[in-house]
Amino acid sequence: MEREYLNLIGGQWTPASSGATNPDRNPARTEEVVAVFPSGGREDAARAAEAAARAFPGWARTPLPRRSEILLKAAALLEQRLDEVAQALTREEGKTLAESKGETARGVSLLRYYAGEALQPTGDVYGSAVPSTFLFAERVPLGPVALITPWNFPVAIPAWKVAPALAFGNTVVLKPAELTPLTAWHLADVLDKAGLPPGVLNLVVGRGSQVGPALAESPHIKAISFTGSNAVGSGLAARCAERGIKFQLEMGGKNPVIVLADADLDKAVELTIAGAMLSTGQKCTATSRVIVHRDVLEGFRDRLVARASSLKVGDGMKAETYMGPLVSADAQKSVLEYIGVGKREGARVLTGGTRLEGGEYDAGYYVAPTVFDRVRPDMRIAQEEIFGPVVGVIEARDFDEAIALANDTRFGLSASVVTRDLGLALRFIREIEAGIVHVNSQTAGAEPQVPFGGFKGSSSGSREQGKAAREFFTQIKTVYLDPP
Ligand code: UN1
Repeated sequence: MEREYLNLIGGQWTPASSGATNPDRNPARTEEVVAVFPSGGREDAARAAEAAARAFPGWARTPLPRRSEILLKAAALLEQRLDEVAQALTREEGKTLAESKGETARGVSLLRYYAGEALQPTGDVYGSAVPSTFLFAERVPLGPVALITPWNFPVAIPAWKVAPALAFGNTVVLKPAELTPLTAWHLADVLDKAGLPPGVLNLVVGRGSQVGPALAESPHIKAISFTGSNAVGSGLAARCAERGIKFQLEMGGKNPVIVLADADLDKAVELTIAGAMLSTGQKCTATSRVIVHRDVLEGFRDRLVARASSLKVGDGMKAETYMGPLVSADAQKSVLEYIGVGKREGARVLTGGTRLEGGEYDAGYYVAPTVFDRVRPDMRIAQEEIFGPVVGVIEARDFDEAIALANDTRFGLSASVVTRDLGLALRFIREIEAGIVHVNSQTAGAEPQVPFGGFKGSSSGSREQGKAAREFFTQIKTVYLDPP
């Protein structure tokens, strides 16, 4: 029997109030149940929000060095179980074990980074117009916050929201994606074992359609940080706006790589493949368009196709695998539908374009690495987020057209240029409409010490990580202190 896991509410590991459970399956072998989790609903969400509210005053008063110590301890515990968590991640999400190890290590770094951030200054002292006044502005916590996280980075994204929320004195209800609860459970477990007081972090695994809205409506919840689809994000934002609470949304991307005429084509291919195909293209920062100067189009395209068609696809637990399955049957269906749309729109499939079949492929949700060319900017496959191993090649006649094409989308998360020309690299940095800009590196990736987030429809305007995390997870209290 697979192990049955529980939610964490008010310091108690507890089943869903309805008693319902849900199997956590392996997308590489769908018969394999990795774990069984509670299928929480509205009532569980409400109880967790209440528990977070009860725990808030005590946690907000807990000295910052103590909060920092707990995060450091949790980092050490997560590091000790890195292999176990990475295996759980690959088994429930499908990405390769190498990627899962990298992601779990990123979770460890995030906990450590915010243990340090917790000890940074909490405000500013100002000169007052009144000589006797001691005037300062302090950043104070918001209260209980809800963190809603996706399945594609099931350790890193919970860690990058939970760690700053806790470091800055908030209490948390974490609602991880129902497809990948086991990795989030490990994060909650290490924080619990590291000594968080009861109710400071609550974990509610359950149905997104119930738990998300219940958290947004709970009078206890003072802010929501969400990473996921634009459709769900805009609904949540509307609820938060009605209630007048703070929200932060990180959503889709349609991230371009521009390959200029002077580019090192091997490098351009390598970083396009990594950006488009690692994690099976299921990153909001994944490369989905490659805009190529016409002088190098043929050479680039041939190399890209050769590389894409030689990628080893299979179970992420095998050392030779470069790309695992998609996360679910719905994800596979949606990616195959987009491939059909691209073909009908007149784009040409150069490699891939189908589900993979036969042998181990029949057991999981596999789609071949897919390259389209003859993609035009008005096609749906050039505009909508596919979230799979699909990249479209778009031809540009010069730098100006390449930039215009790159910016011709409602998204603006990340973008990359491949060039040796410093002048053009600088123009790209200035003219590209993206929150994260890469020169000669892939569109994906995020370091904890710098702001992360997008322009336009990719985010709600705020940023996560780095110093930006403190801005979101605190509010400012300005104090005029005068002698009695
Ligand atoms: C990365 O590119 O390594 O959901 C991180 C996502 C992003 C995180 C990307 N919020 O894919």
